[in-house]
Amino acid sequence: MISIKQLAETRGDLTSIPTAYNFFTPNNDIHLPVVSDELYEDSIPTIDFSLLTSGTPEQRSKIVNDLGKACRDWGFFVVIKYDIAVLSSGFFLSTCIGIKVDDDYQVINHGVPESLMKVMIETCGEFFKLSEEEKQEYAGKDILDPIFYGTSINGAATQVLFWRDFIKFFVHPKFHCPTKPTGLGEISMEYCKRTGEVARELMKGISVSLGLEEGYIEKAMNLDSGLQFVAANLYPPCPKPDVAIGLPPHSDYGLLTLLIHNGVCGLQVQHKGNWVNLNPNPNAFVVNIGNHMEILSKGKYKSVFHRALVNETDARMSILVVHGPALETVVSPAPELVDNETNPPAFAGMKYREYLEMLQSKIHARLSPK
Ligand code: SIN
Ligand code: FE2
Repeated sequence: MISIKQLAETRGDLTSIPTAYNFFTPNNDIHLPVVSDELYEDSIPTIDFSLLTSGTPEQRSKIVNDLGKACRDWGFFVVIKYDIAVLSSGFFLSTCIGIKVDDDYQVINHGVPESLMKVMIETCGEFFKLSEEEKQEYAGKDILDPIFYGTSINGAATQVLFWRDFIKFFVHPKFHCPTKPTGLGEISMEYCKRTGEVARELMKGISVSLGLEEGYIEKAMNLDSGLQFVAANLYPPCPKPDVAIGLPPHSDYGLLTLLIHNGVCGLQVQHKGNWVNLNPNPNAFVVNIGNHMEILSKGKYKSVFHRALVNETDARMSILVVHGPALETVVSPAPELVDNETNPPAFAGMKYREYLEMLQSKIHARLSPK
């Protein structure tokens, strides 16, 4: 199968798309209205990370409260001022791989340097520019393949193809990464170390917001061996953005996903029966609750449906880092949140690995000829 990038480029003048990409047909779309940005923009919860990590006890307890509310009401929030400043990072990037790093994070008080986010997006973008043969080397088959290049297909309950190319690679507990383009390994390693730190701090706050001990999720989910992976998505311009979709409505597996993007709109989140645009400043993290956080919290926190739209003129990129439990960890509702009489568990326990294998077999069943 050819990549969407190639399809878009070689048929750049095309005015229609292959019918296999017709997603928005009367049968296929979840027909929810899209609300105007003015209505919602201010209400997507924003978490000031610096207050979570170094605020006064009062500020921290307010943020923990806000975090709990965001997880419950939206399943999505935006994180700003993630101030885990390691001043050597600019040094690391510029000296190790010869990439120029600007230092404006000092001005805008960003710890995971904006330059690191930018260079992560650019370098993943370089991956998609490799030749089709080079990318095919990483073509994946199984959800547990540590490196997986793919196009068009994902596990959603539909046979329609999607207008996106992606590269996924596991970075923890063992680091894997395509060997090309130059620098992708070093940059991803540094970037994922930082997002891992942000995710752990958020999970501490989330634990407390659930009435659990600060280190609860970290310990119960065995995050020292947790599965962390990168998924970089490229959505090339599409001549029929009202017909094709980048990614259909889905929720994420794992505990917490941290997403950045290249400033091109496309992400929408389901909220109170509407699709809401979620296009924050590109140097903020968009964070969402995964299926396993929903299970752990006994459904208190929601793993919410979201989707990615495409557009006619601009290539969109998103880079996700998904933070999950260790593969052998059994995920079930926290016993502290379960009272067998008044509040029985709503989910059976299952190893994270088994959950992923179950998804894999569903995908196979759907894709194999009937
Ligand atoms: C995803 O949900 O996996 C990607 C969403 C996006 O591209 O914004
Ligand atoms: Fe997602």
